[in-house]
Amino acid sequence: MEKPSKIAPAKGNLGVLLPGMGAVSTTFMAGVELVRKGKSQPVGSLTQMGTLRLGKRTDARSPLIKNFVPLAELKDLTFGGWDIFKDNAYQSAANAGVLNPQDLEKVKSFLSTIKPMKAAFDHDFVKLIDGPNIKKGKNKYELALQIKEDIANFRKTSRASRLVTCWCGSTESFVKPEDVHSTPEKFIEAMKSNHPMIAPSMLYAWASVTSGVPFANGAPNLTVDIPAIQKLAHDNNVAICGKDFKTGQTLMKTILAPGFKARMLGLEGWFSTNILGNRDGEVLEDPGSFKTKEESKLSVLEYILQPQLYPQLYGKMCHKVRINYYPPRGDNKEGWDNIDIFGWLGYPMQIKVDFLCRDSILAAPIVLDLVLFLDLAQRAGMRGIQEWLSFYFKSPMTAPGLYPEHDLFIQSMKLKNTLRWMKGEDLITHLGQEYYD
Ligand SMILES: NC(=O)c1ccc[n+]([C@@H]2O[C@H](COP(=O)([O-])OP(=O)(O)OC[C@H]3O[C@@H](n4cnc5c(N)ncnc54)[C@H](O)[C@@H]3O)[C@@H](O)[C@H]2O)c1
Repeated sequence: MEKPSKIAPAKGNLGVLLPGMGAVSTTFMAGVELVRKGKSQPVGSLTQMGTLRLGKRTDARSPLIKNFVPLAELKDLTFGGWDIFKDNAYQSAANAGVLNPQDLEKVKSFLSTIKPMKAAFDHDFVKLIDGPNIKKGKNKYELALQIKEDIANFRKTSRASRLVTCWCGSTESFVKPEDVHSTPEKFIEAMKSNHPMIAPSMLYAWASVTSGVPFANGAPNLTVDIPAIQKLAHDNNVAICGKDFKTGQTLMKTILAPGFKARMLGLEGWFSTNILGNRDGEVLEDPGSFKTKEESKLSVLEYILQPQLYPQLYGKMCHKVRINYYPPRGDNKEGWDNIDIFGWLGYPMQIKVDFLCRDSILAAPIVLDLVLFLDLAQRAGMRGIQEWLSFYFKSPMTAPGLYPEHDLFIQSMKLKNTLRWMKGEDLITHLGQEYYD
């Protein structure tokens, strides 16, 4: 792909559309407003706090990313969303219990104005919840057209010059790509015939992409990870990315595993278990939704450790992931890892990780960065899958036939080099021979 010759400026409002207004979405919106009011810091957000080095180490040029590439400013963000429940963003945030009442109070009037549009929902895909705020239509195609109308209305009422959609809805039941997902034409036929393999998240994706709106997928569902939507993204010049925000335990895995591999330490097994008590955890009690999540979580180690290249070190590793719904913990998940590694001469060692994390606190800055970077990509004319945003995902989308990069440090280098490339700066290889000539 050619380097973008010109990046259009970030003029006007950027409308953020969120299918699913639960814990992650509301923590994200509340956080943006708290930061805008100067009451908090955007910790965890690369677009707000990150810098990148330009030129040589001796040049001392490390601008903030937001000053280097033309990103939308927080003051220009406006929000809309859909949910199966009627709660406004304040009520939903209070329900989710992520932010404390004092913080929520500071943004109550702002959040209360954000009311969810009616959702396209199918109980077969999310079995353990049900709600009253649901669209009606003859078939899935009609529902998708209604979402398109919602998008057009939101564009007008929010006076946004650009829009981005980020799926923050529940994890849907496991779906494998099938023939109905293979082309845009077959996809439309399948929507019209109410084919059971067309998930609600795909309707939002179709509506967004065909409205020229970039789409990020925060859940492990297929959604935009099917040829039909990818072709539409390409044909409509729309940027897409996914899937499954990389937070908590998987973030830890993609930090630790590259270190073991770099030092050629072996891995016999990695057992991960979690307790969490939020709505996400409740949805994941259903085996169909859990299977979708499990697939997304399991692939990480295989790709990072490459057992086919290192059979003596990783050929026999046993990897298990468990998620347990335990209401008392709410959003404050606890994730335990038992890691059985081995070193010199095969001598075994163990590492235990006990991560008392806050799921939505880790996810919210990811939503912000994805929204801002997708908007940037769109203005730079970068269409289709944005692999440089792999940094944010458990299961990064790639071109067909290409294996994903899961190593957080490779992903970070890829992201920063993409920003340098967009602006025509030298890429950084970390070779550094020139300092010794
Ligand atoms: N750290 C994290 O929190 C994290 C990490 C990775 C992925 N995710 C994923 O992000 C998503 C959101 O997580 P959450 O903790 O906010 O969950 P949540 O249950 O609090 O919110 C999801 C919301 O989506 C709504 N919803 C379900 N189906 C819908 C539909 N078809 N249309 C519109 N709304 C719909 C639900 O009613 C709910 O309010 C989940 O899929 C989760 O697996 C979260």
